[in-house]
Amino acid sequence: MEEILEKKLESGPLNFESYFSEKALKMKASEVRELLKLVETSDVISLAGGLPNPKTFPKDIIKGILEEIMEEHADKALQYGTTKGFTPLRLAIAEWLRKRYNIPTSKVDIMITSGSQQALDLIGRVFLNPGDLVVVEAPTYLAALQAFNFYEPQYIQVPLDDEGMRIDILEEKLRKLKAEGKRVKLVYTVPTFQNPAGVTMTEERRKHLLELASEYDFIIVEDDPYGELRYSGKPVPKIKALDTEGRVLYLGTFSKILAPGFRLGWIAGEPHFIRKLEIAKQSVDLCTNSFGQVVAWRYLEGGHLEKHIPRIIEFYKPRRNAMLEALEQYMPEGVKWTRPEGGMFIWVILPEKINATTMLEKAVKKGVAYVPGEAFFAYRDVKNTMRLNFTYVDEDKIQEGVKRLAETIKEEL
Ligand SMILES: Cc1ncc(COP(=O)(O)O)c(C=O)c1O
Repeated sequence: MEEILEKKLESGPLNFESYFSEKALKMKASEVRELLKLVETSDVISLAGGLPNPKTFPKDIIKGILEEIMEEHADKALQYGTTKGFTPLRLAIAEWLRKRYNIPTSKVDIMITSGSQQALDLIGRVFLNPGDLVVVEAPTYLAALQAFNFYEPQYIQVPLDDEGMRIDILEEKLRKLKAEGKRVKLVYTVPTFQNPAGVTMTEERRKHLLELASEYDFIIVEDDPYGELRYSGKPVPKIKALDTEGRVLYLGTFSKILAPGFRLGWIAGEPHFIRKLEIAKQSVDLCTNSFGQVVAWRYLEGGHLEKHIPRIIEFYKPRRNAMLEALEQYMPEGVKWTRPEGGMFIWVILPEKINATTMLEKAVKKGVAYVPGEAFFAYRDVKNTMRLNFTYVDEDKIQEGVKRLAETIKEEL
């Protein structure tokens, strides 16, 4: 039966390509992902992962909740639900957003999605015509690009520094585009503990971004899967909390604060936008899985989330520290990296002559893997960067992994 698991793509009597849509023909598997798949099964220390550590999953809490559900809420948990989501969960999220982030929920509607990944796809469906201008950070979240690509927008890349997206550069680009009669429709940002760069946009820049949104009439997608994972520094207001015009669609997820296996996220935004997103979701999956929604509702309502977040932080913080210390200790001169106050990733910038994509194979031979940065750029135009994850492997392996990586880099210099 194992033959069912991994299928080789062999030629046969059918001309497979001739059946695919034009859009499907444009979808390509990434070579790097294929290489990294091999790494997951070997002795290589993988700093390439993007997964939360299973040791942070609140298994005992979930066990208790499951018993409670089967006794008291089974009919709801096992039934189809509404497309917008299970109302008690939507209310509990609204309360969380209000209490914890100061997001005024009187003018906000909330729809539950199958992870925030689905929210990204629905946003593409609802807002993007081919050729529409979408601003993304450079680098940005790879799977957001994959989701949007299907709708064929044109990307405008705006670089990051330690204070997040360079809003001054965005402003300059907006001005030029306007002079050419062009309008940006949507700005996508991961403003807090960014994936892949780990940096956080300052409050000042968040305000400036909102001013520009108003002046140039675009909407902002604030994707915030890591916001709760802060290990140092001071909290920054959510862009949504500063949004007075309803221009911000706020994406949240249970993936990093409960468990990604539930596939539960949400979009909080202006009701007109949510209504259209709801219609778009209907044909995709009718509703997000009800069982998970009931679990998440009990998790929130029972006060478990609030108590569990500090435990996740306590688990990840020493790993972040270990990686920063190892980078300091081993990296040769000319290599730079970000110093994230939270999240899961550190971004490394190598001297320009090093190509991190071609170096990966050498690194794997030395027993360490990372994600080359190229794929995080909409135009794949930067080759000398990489993303390192510090949540998945233990501190001693982080130390050894960074040491091996530094040795690989030294040989390229
Ligand atoms: C920036 C960003 N957005 C969205 C997602 C998707 O998360 P979810 O598991 O909620 O679909 C991730 C997951 O890693 C992410 O890093």
